[in-house]
Amino acid sequence: MSDFVIAPSILSADFARLGEEVDTVLEAGADWVHFDVMDNHYVPNLTIGPMVCDSLRKHGVTAPIDVHLMVNPVDRLIGDFIEAGASIITFHPEASDHIDRSLQLIRDGGCKAGLVFNPATPLHYLDYVMDKIDQILIMSVNPGFGGQSFLPSALDKLRAARERINESGRDIRLEIDGGVKVDNIRAIAEAGADTFVAGSAIFNANDYRERIDAMRKELAA
Ligand code: DX5
Ligand code: ZN
Repeated sequence: MSDFVIAPSILSADFARLGEEVDTVLEAGADWVHFDVMDNHYVPNLTIGPMVCDSLRKHGVTAPIDVHLMVNPVDRLIGDFIEAGASIITFHPEASDHIDRSLQLIRDGGCKAGLVFNPATPLHYLDYVMDKIDQILIMSVNPGFGGQSFLPSALDKLRAARERINESGRDIRLEIDGGVKVDNIRAIAEAGADTFVAGSAIFNANDYRERIDAMRKELAA
């Protein structure tokens, strides 16, 4: 795995052929599987839960599964996703009554833990939990749907998050999610991101490998 991680969001995959889609995208060079969980409560959309994560593991997927919880309440699903084979679990801090506890639950289960920041959510939720964070996810769209346009305000936020990570001296991944394309991935990396979620950009391509290669080429430029 290179230092840059490409994590296709299966939200834009063909759910009728999910196992095959995940195999194809991983064979095409993707590093992780980004797994969007929406509950029709925290966000106005409904997707997939722990059973589907478990099915992907049983299907033979060994790559890291990056579970992005867009749910409220948060804690109830953490144990189920740990059991289902999640590798990383991130949640939106304003959706948890006890952020420190939710992070601890994830880490106690052996998964990496992270917080997700919506476009208007301040980074101060990180203030007292940096020592319990393995990943920070900056949303560059309002959560709920794939295929939206990248909000440029995310670039300043990435720079601010990168500063916090550097100050902490900890090994924390900085992930971006929403509207990531070949033509903006370079600027996003320059703002500090090292982990790139891309849903429609990859799954709408005819050739996943070609699209992922084009992203890596931009990152190497
Ligand atoms: C949005 C999800 C994203 C989404 C990204 O709420 O968290 O992961 O699938 O899709 P694109 O890359 O199409 O913006
Ligand atoms: Zn996501």
